[in-house]
Amino acid sequence: MTDCQGDVEGASTPMELYEKLSEQGVKVRSLKSAKADKTKVDTAVQLLLKLKMDYKQMTGHDYKAGCPPSENDAAPNNGPAADVAGEDDTVDPWTVSTTNAKGVDYDKLIVRFGSSKIDQELVDRIEKVCGQKPHRFLRRGVFFSHRDMHQVLDAYEKHKSFYLYTGRGPSSEAMHVGHLIPFIFTKWLQDVFDIPLVIQLTDDEKYLWKDLTVEECHRFAIENAKDIIACGFDINKTFIFSDLDYMGSSPEFYRNVVKIQKHVTFNQVKGIFGFTDSDCIGKISFPAIQAAPSFSNSFPHVFGSRKDIQCLIPCAIDQDPYFRMTRDVAPRIGYPKPALLHSTFFPALQGAQTKMSASDANSSIFLTDTPKQIKNKINKHAFSGGKDTVEEHRKYGGNADVDVSFMYLTFFLEDDEQLEKIRQDYTSGALLTGELKKILIETLQPMIAQHQERRKQVTDDLVKQFMTPRPLNFNL
Ligand code: TRP
Repeated sequence: MTDCQGDVEGASTPMELYEKLSEQGVKVRSLKSAKADKTKVDTAVQLLLKLKMDYKQMTGHDYKAGCPPSENDAAPNNGPAADVAGEDDTVDPWTVSTTNAKGVDYDKLIVRFGSSKIDQELVDRIEKVCGQKPHRFLRRGVFFSHRDMHQVLDAYEKHKSFYLYTGRGPSSEAMHVGHLIPFIFTKWLQDVFDIPLVIQLTDDEKYLWKDLTVEECHRFAIENAKDIIACGFDINKTFIFSDLDYMGSSPEFYRNVVKIQKHVTFNQVKGIFGFTDSDCIGKISFPAIQAAPSFSNSFPHVFGSRKDIQCLIPCAIDQDPYFRMTRDVAPRIGYPKPALLHSTFFPALQGAQTKMSASDANSSIFLTDTPKQIKNKINKHAFSGGKDTVEEHRKYGGNADVDVSFMYLTFFLEDDEQLEKIRQDYTSGALLTGELKKILIETLQPMIAQHQERRKQVTDDLVKQFMTPRPLNFNL
């Protein structure tokens, strides 16, 4: 780190720091695209992060490639630089990885992304405004970060409503339990606030990024829609759409896409998403398509020509880059900025260092798994924080913080007291790993079976109804 310090101290004005940052950004990207040695890339990334933190501290706002600082950006304070946020964590729409067994350091991610923590005060406020016990994902910090949620609640209290937007990239037929997290939570939000919801299936995105045909991606979108519908969304308040279908049929949606495209430069998306000169132009313009549903007039059959309806986006934190871009563009094209609620990642069975992968059958519990497969996967693959022998475990206790079975229970076991007792018993050694796994197996088996039952009830006709542009039923 010493040469980082040297570099940073060398920059005394926002402009100098901005130039250093631009150079460093180019360096990181060229190292990455040249597939340079990992430690070289890591060192360069660390310096980049450090420079970004310093830039934010010096100017009061985030560094943006292609947007040099203005004269008002003189250093507001020269206090000690904040700690570099989660240096060894990589979080972007394509990669999530960390070297820490407890998983990504989410508090540091909040600093790095410049979002706000969902603290107890906000959870209490949500409870007060919606009049319901907060969802376990809020009680337990699964949704841990937000942008502008207080503003959404302020408006809601004054009887100004909002709508929900979430989505999914249909990269295969197989969905796993982790994919359900945003949908389970969005369904809860829809119920307690009684508001409309749009769900984007980015089959176009998956075509651009993966080695799949357009037809395959579209088919996966329809298959995934069935799992999404099985989460229980209200057909009178929910519109699900495939980009491949809806983009071509909605002039209003496409107009917004074009407006967004006009207001984001190549330099900016390179900075935000790390695109390089050899990425296809479809990828480069795709972020505008993920941004467009954040604006209410993209859905005239739902909102008419109103463009002022606030949007709230529940999503996993790796989607934030898309919406940082969206929020930056919104005021420049006359729209409100979407608010956000960010979730942590659902850990792979093998441990919290990475999120689950739909392409590795043993890394996750799939929505199609049989009770027996669930049992075997958990017993065989769920990373344990227990000790090697029963004697040692009884004596020293287990580590719930790195234990994947325990983590999964924090996502799915509803009862707070039961969960706390499991934690205490596991930590003291009274509860053995096998017993903990058994509790998880018995929690997941009925949950997955019920999902499969509900999915069976979802007919092609029902999917069609959800995916037909039509008015929704709500009061704004
Ligand atoms: N890009 C997301 C994915 O690959 C899909 C998506 C589109 C999305 N719009 C969204 C996710 C809004 C959350 C919120 O999964």
